[in-house]
Amino acid sequence: MIVVTGATGNIGRPLTRTLAEAGRQVTAVSRHTAAVPKGSRHVAADLARPADLKPVLDGAEALFLLLSGDLHAPGSSPADLIGEAAACGVRRVVLLSTLGVVTRPFGPTRIAMRALEDTLRESGMEWAILRPGGFASNALWWAESVRTRQVVAAPFGDTGVPVIDPADIAAVAAACLLEDRHAGGVYELTGPEVITPRRQAEAIATALGSPVRFHELTREEARAAMAQSMPAELADDTLDILGSPKPAELRVSPDVQQVLGRAPRPFADWAARNIAAFR
Ligand SMILES: NC(=O)c1ccc[n+]([C@@H]2O[C@H](COP(=O)([O-])OP(=O)(O)OC[C@H]3O[C@@H](n4cnc5c(N)ncnc54)[C@H](OP(=O)(O)O)[C@@H]3O)[C@@H](O)[C@H]2O)c1
Repeated sequence: MIVVTGATGNIGRPLTRTLAEAGRQVTAVSRHTAAVPKGSRHVAADLARPADLKPVLDGAEALFLLLSGDLHAPGSSPADLIGEAAACGVRRVVLLSTLGVVTRPFGPTRIAMRALEDTLRESGMEWAILRPGGFASNALWWAESVRTRQVVAAPFGDTGVPVIDPADIAAVAAACLLEDRHAGGVYELTGPEVITPRRQAEAIATALGSPVRFHELTREEARAAMAQSMPAELADDTLDILGSPKPAELRVSPDVQQVLGRAPRPFADWAARNIAAFR
């Protein structure tokens, strides 16, 4: 049995489906009860309480570990999740980390994530670490304004990064969970090309079959909008990446191709598959 955490999110949903279609028993974990694909079962549990995971992990052969940002806050103990998995006899763990541990290693969240990577490496279990850059699904931030006003409002319209389709992260995660050859693998995951917000808006318009206007926000306007749904520190951090990506954040990684034997999918592909959110 394979345990998938974050199972109802952008990565977890396609990962759960892929593993179930591969004929594996899957336990899909998130806090809120949700329908899951045939062949899998859902268990409601909060990763902020690692001891609650014991009944889930007992008898599991492998674990996909995805932590939301607040689990890196002072006082939380994600390392205990790895300890719990090892104590329960889990053989293999695939950890969703972030490219930021390499490109911007000094923020508190990334220091905590790097420490978690180290805990996993020293756990005695088999491991693989996934370090994705920005997600194509971050474009869902624009879904409501596209639906209601046919507008994408974003800062830094002509500065892009090679965003990755979460379905490709899921496909790499599935390979790492199912295939022995990825033990000890550390994979940097990006899309196939740098794409700017302005070109993302064009791809959404093409998928919709109707015009979408691009409206460039100032950094201050974007910060004010983001601060409504995330801590100001995280908004500043995200804006630093979006506005001034470092060379390592612009690099197109070969790792998706290497693991899957095919190129990562372009943003237009993600937009076409998720266009219902923008209608
Ligand atoms: N977005 C980016 O550009 C980017 C870049 C690099 C790395 N990342 C990392 O990617 C991850 C997000 O992946 P995603 O987009 O697939 O996630 P998502 O769509 O935001 O979904 C999050 C999933 O985690 C579950 N969850 C959240 N808090 C939980 C908790 N305390 N206990 C148990 N389950 C919990 C959610 O379900 P419930 O709410 O029902 O619990 C949901 O299933 C984060 O770790 C982020 O740091 C993101």
